[in-house]
Amino acid sequence: MDGPSGTGKSSVSRRLATRLDARYLDTGAMYRTLTLQVLRRGVDLTDPVAVGAAVAEVDFTIGTDPAAELVLLGGEDVRSEIRGAQVTGAVSAVAAVPQVRAGLVELQRRLVAAADRIVVEGRDIGTVVLPDADVKIYLTASPEARARRRNEQNIVEGRGDDYAGVLADVQRRDGLDSTRAVSPLRPAPDSVLVDTSELNIDQVIDELERVVAD
Ligand code: CDP
Repeated sequence: MDGPSGTGKSSVSRRLATRLDARYLDTGAMYRTLTLQVLRRGVDLTDPVAVGAAVAEVDFTIGTDPAAELVLLGGEDVRSEIRGAQVTGAVSAVAAVPQVRAGLVELQRRLVAAADRIVVEGRDIGTVVLPDADVKIYLTASPEARARRRNEQNIVEGRGDDYAGVLADVQRRDGLDSTRAVSPLRPAPDSVLVDTSELNIDQVIDELERVVAD
């Protein structure tokens, strides 16, 4: 499951995994956790060698149970911190470093190999991580619909109400993620495109269950 920010990808993927009795892997959470590590080390984000070195021996854990989110950095629960503004502002720069991507892609493939069935969500799953996936879905929505959703989520989770700021961040990350040299965000040629602009989460899940059953 690939697509840009705010398409409902995480909620949809997690709920779809539960319905399909599958495991669930949020690869964005992995990039966010390594970004937190880079920020804690005080490394210059514009220096790919320093960023690569900062994450080389990192001790982190990501769970694959759709019913229990688990993200640990050095044993510490960082689920909330990785969603904060600091990490969100830095993650696309860290995710553009080839060494960071190579390490995570290898780990992602190992986690997938250990599961019977799994829903994996990210930006490059159908194009790079799992080119032979049984089903590939690319979720899209207008930037405005995506910013509205993300802003509502921020309000609910106590991060404040700032639609204009969220829209600017969504557009900035779209630009960085789709123009980077390694694994740019784009739909795999054999993916099913689902536009979620006018759909609620239940409608999206119903649509995806149809796609998976086909
Ligand atoms: O949920 P949201 O759209 O905010 O992003 P995320 O899925 O948590 O991913 C955060 C960032 O990680 C993205 O903006 C990408 O820069 C990067 N990422 C990536 O490069 N490749 C992936 N497979 C997943 C995330």
